[in-house]
Amino acid sequence: MVVLELKQVKKTFGSGHMQVEAMKETNFQADRGELIAIIGPSGSGKSTFLTIVGGLLSPTSGDVIINGNNLTELIEKQRSKIRLKEIGFILQASNLVPFLTVANQLKLLDQVKKGNMTKKELEELYEDLGIGDLRTKYPADLSGGERQRVAIAKALYSNPSIILADEPTASLDSDRAYEVMELLKNETKNKNTTTIVVTHDIRLVGYCDKVYNMTDGMLTLQDEKSKVNQ
Ligand SMILES: Nc1ncnc2c1ncn2[C@@H]1O[C@H](COP(=O)(O)OP(=O)(O)O)[C@@H](O)[C@H]1O
Ligand SMILES: [Mg+2]
Repeated sequence: MVVLELKQVKKTFGSGHMQVEAMKETNFQADRGELIAIIGPSGSGKSTFLTIVGGLLSPTSGDVIINGNNLTELIEKQRSKIRLKEIGFILQASNLVPFLTVANQLKLLDQVKKGNMTKKELEELYEDLGIGDLRTKYPADLSGGERQRVAIAKALYSNPSIILADEPTASLDSDRAYEVMELLKNETKNKNTTTIVVTHDIRLVGYCDKVYNMTDGMLTLQDEKSKVNQ
């Protein structure tokens, strides 16, 4: 089942000779249960792609369709409702609230949205990410890697149907990076959701069902695992 579709989507920044075509005309589809990697060098358009997919950035032209809703046709209020309900962002700039403890970052989500993880699921998530001891701490007291793992917990806690992760393992050591990919893979398979991970770390692609390459704003399918064993 197609969860996410991009039709002839383009993104251009600036104008005149300052113009940058960050995303060339792109058609893309993602299904339920898929873990997808987007790899490519810095400046190739990966973050642009991810923020357009999640409705944080509007394309210059084309359509972004999430679970049948065409984001381009909606007003911002409706778009933010879909973001809240359907999408878990793990962005490069950490989305943690500076004056809330780790535990309260998550509790805050209970006030704006139903259907979040149960207490038991949350305990498992804390354990999987190795952040159980951090729940009374504030973001400023955490290391970069710890902040990254808390940001991952925050994105997964709301049980989104689509998880969009921009370099989610950038500040983690190799072992932690593999654990996080394992976690994202399990979440995607067990809950039949869709996860897109942007990375320039090719060691992580082994966890993914499909691998796309982003080069100068052009997205191309590089690799697709056989679906026979799924
Ligand atoms: N807000 C912006 N204004 C102008 N140019 C931008 C903006 N965001 C990204 N770009 C440009 O678009 C291109 C792709 O950027 P980006 O999507 O951030 O790449 P990546 O995430 O792969 O490093 C780069 O040339 C970048 O400078
Ligand atoms: Mg980027």
